Amino acid sequence: MYRVAVIKGDGIGPEVVDAAIEVVNAVTSRVRFYEFEGGVEVFKRHGVPITQDDLEEIKKMDAVLFGATTTPFDLPGYKSLIITLRKELNLYANLRIIPDFTDGREIVIVRENSEGLYSGQGRAFDDRAVDVRLITREGAERIARFAARVAKERGSFITFVHKANVLTSDKFFRRIVLEVAREEGVEVREAIVDSFTIKLVRNPWDHGVILSENLFGDILSDLATIHAGSIGVVPTGNYGDDIALFEPIHGSAPDIAGKGIANPIGAILSAAMMLDYLGLDGSRIWNAVRSYVRKGNLTPDMGGTATTMEVTRGIIQEIHDLD
Ligand code: NAI
Ligand code: MG
Repeated sequence: MYRVAVIKGDGIGPEVVDAAIEVVNAVTSRVRFYEFEGGVEVFKRHGVPITQDDLEEIKKMDAVLFGATTTPFDLPGYKSLIITLRKELNLYANLRIIPDFTDGREIVIVRENSEGLYSGQGRAFDDRAVDVRLITREGAERIARFAARVAKERGSFITFVHKANVLTSDKFFRRIVLEVAREEGVEVREAIVDSFTIKLVRNPWDHGVILSENLFGDILSDLATIHAGSIGVVPTGNYGDDIALFEPIHGSAPDIAGKGIANPIGAILSAAMMLDYLGLDGSRIWNAVRSYVRKGNLTPDMGGTATTMEVTRGIIQEIHDLD
């Protein structure tokens, strides 16, 4: 039996995670879910977005399934739960898969998940504020190796997206990426981040495994979701050496929360990535989702009129039909 921690969060988080759990239970009985609380409500009671006791419990699990939490701009001392979890669980690699449901192509993005502009070393003074764009040798090497492994598994290459023409941290990052790729025998192409945005709009499917710093990767992957039809269908895995956390790329979507119309596909595919990670087979879920998207009624973000539950049931039906 695999033990999976579940943090549903708030907004549409619980709606889409419930859908993902239903789908997992439809393909396997080998996963048991354990629910944990986190976010602003926990912060109000304990002064932290998740308690230390819960973190210790979660570290003993096989994987984490995460929904989304709202991060207020102006709550003093509060730090986003997902950023906290990535740090506490040392989840340094973020793999984002943007599917084209019509023909099976994918945009694959590996975002460095632990340093860069999210290094957490920002400081505000009276007359200025700074953030530190930290790239360490260790951090660069391990993310380059991760991207190389993904590229090899896919019979593909890496496109390293950077601003090494200007940023000292990216000059350093670039040297290490080229070094590691040579060692691993993986081809590296390069692109400068600003002009790369145009390529990502015009010919998104041609870039192999896109590797970038934390903030660049964050922005590029939200942009890339356009090609999947909605931000609501894109899954991600956050990987460390000991555990991994799976979540839809989207946030808590307060504008549609509670209406029962959130697209559950991003969370469902995140659960499929989780099954692959656990050594169970996620491909049945991927196939069912692809098949459902081609013919089924979708949620309003994809131009349909279906509810979260209708899409979830439709996908489960597809799983049975494809068996
Ligand atoms: P968002 O992803 O929550 O929403 C952006 C837009 O996409 C909204 O119009 C929303 O309705 C739509 N959308 C998102 N997911 C959808 C789904 N599954 N189905 C249908 N439509 C969907 O991003 P936004 O608005 O920038 O942030 C809202 C809150 O979420 C903020 O508090 C932010 O901090 C938080 N957030 C949390 C994340 C996490 O917990 N991992 C990640 C990103 C944002
Ligand atoms: Mg983001």
